[in-house]
Amino acid sequence: MAATNGMPAGPSMDELGIAHPGENRNETTALSLEERRIEQLQRQVVALQRISSLGVLAGGVFHELNNALTPILSYAKLALRNPDPAYRERALKQIIDASERAADITRSMLGLSRPGGANDRTLTDLKRLVDEVAQLTRKDLVKHRMRLETRLEGRPHAQVNPAQIQQVLLNLIINARQAMNPGGTVRLGLKVDETGRKAEISVADTGTGIAPADLRRIFEPFYSTKAEPDAAGQGGTGLGLSVCRDIIEAHHGRLRAQSRPGQGAVFTIILPLAQDPEAVVHAESA
Ligand SMILES: Nc1ncnc2c1ncn2[C@@H]1O[C@H](COP(=O)(O)OP(=O)(O)OP(=O)(O)O)[C@@H](O)[C@H]1O
Ligand SMILES: [Mg+2]
Repeated sequence: MAATNGMPAGPSMDELGIAHPGENRNETTALSLEERRIEQLQRQVVALQRISSLGVLAGGVFHELNNALTPILSYAKLALRNPDPAYRERALKQIIDASERAADITRSMLGLSRPGGANDRTLTDLKRLVDEVAQLTRKDLVKHRMRLETRLEGRPHAQVNPAQIQQVLLNLIINARQAMNPGGTVRLGLKVDETGRKAEISVADTGTGIAPADLRRIFEPFYSTKAEPDAAGQGGTGLGLSVCRDIIEAHHGRLRAQSRPGQGAVFTIILPLAQDPEAVVHAESA
């Protein structure tokens, strides 16, 4: 994405990056306005794309919330009818457990829907981040008779915009689900690479896989092999992976795709780890 930082146009530069003070000032101002407009539109695409992928979760999340509310209501009614203090205490504990579960779900969903700017980066526990996405997407996969397995190793931290990284994971998981038949499995992985400086978050599926000629094109904006939205109303704009790559590259990371037709696909997010170990210790004890 072009970075204009909202600064007024400076001296113009030639293709080699050599500045020519005072020349073409108007042209440069027009260009930077144009660049700012493009940047704004790109931000809107990312935000709209996020809303569209969140829609998939809504059904599962409401179901989970309802599952948490049912025991709250029943235990409250039972406690009202039963005067035994020990019984009431047990009921209250059940009510608190279920309320905490419900609060967890809404917290994760709110975290995901909060837009956050490109500069909203915080030291983030990647295991917790991936866990939250797993919790939110498992219901959707189970509904489609698919499984979600996780293998999360270590406690890597990275300086990221958590909502954006979750948006990427959400997109990769929805793509995986759309490429599979009932009975399929999504495997979510997290580990530190062999250099010890990067985290790798992987989303592997047992779906159709991607032919080599298509693999070269999947990150292009608007490239899609989905003729129409699926039964859940999802898919088909071809913006998912292009937004994912933009987000990861803005984090100085890489998004890699590996696949063979008929053998599923693996998408790997590679992110630089937070450099300051003291900051990590700090964040963990907070
Ligand atoms: N896990 C996967 N397995 C097989 N093919 C995939 C997978 N992920 C992506 N693809 C292919 O890459 C194409 C582009 O994916 P992308 O997410 O950008 O767009 P989309 O899923 O078609 O539409 P959108 O995400 O905007 O709803 C898909 O249409 C599909 O052909
Ligand atoms: Mg997609």
